[in-house]
Amino acid sequence: MSRSPGITACVFDAYGTLLDLESAVEPHRAALGGSAAGFLKLWRGKQLEYTWLRTLMGRYADFAQVTADALDYACDSFGVRDPALRAGLLGGFERLQAFGDAGETLARLRTAGIRTAVLSNGTPAMLTAAFEASGLAPHLDRVLSVEAVSKYKPAAEVYALAASELAAGAGELLFVSANAWDISGAASAGLVTAWINRAAAPRERLPFGATHVVGSLSEIPALAGRSSGFAE
Ligand code: LAC
Repeated sequence: MSRSPGITACVFDAYGTLLDLESAVEPHRAALGGSAAGFLKLWRGKQLEYTWLRTLMGRYADFAQVTADALDYACDSFGVRDPALRAGLLGGFERLQAFGDAGETLARLRTAGIRTAVLSNGTPAMLTAAFEASGLAPHLDRVLSVEAVSKYKPAAEVYALAASELAAGAGELLFVSANAWDISGAASAGLVTAWINRAAAPRERLPFGATHVVGSLSEIPALAGRSSGFAE
């Protein structure tokens, strides 16, 4: 009987999973006149929509461009015309705060002998800035950007990049994301998955559900360790 190799690396989504998107709009709550939550929802929604549409069209532009384009759409929609506010919001995306349990989760994984990586739509420059600013950089073995394949999630090539860069089989990777559609893409590519469902959202009606559904990052080391034979 062949023995499962277990999980050798945990691969995390960046935005909304390790990094809290609300921290981009938080300092501008007053300037946005009480509509910060709606503004962020539209900005983030358009950002993702543009990644999917550009990948379908074969018209890749990097995530910095897509993020700025989506911000401009949101500014038009909410009547935001102040260039300083726009610049502040865009800059905030490079200084996002980590979720409170992110650093400890990554540290515990490494203590258990499991490599830690990020696989994100972000550009290498955006990711370097964000992980330095958030303090998570020292806890990460690898930071991988979709830029290497010029396609956005959930294209299968993106998840295959994680397996090739980490020199691991897809089934040895535990992919962790708060974005359920991202989980579906990773599972479709053969990765083991954990959906961080902080808001107790309903499950997506997409093929390939999550292997595990948890409420916070702090539950990940136990899942990964169990699969690797480490006691937590
Ligand atoms: C990322 C987006 C999908 O970090 O959150 O790739």
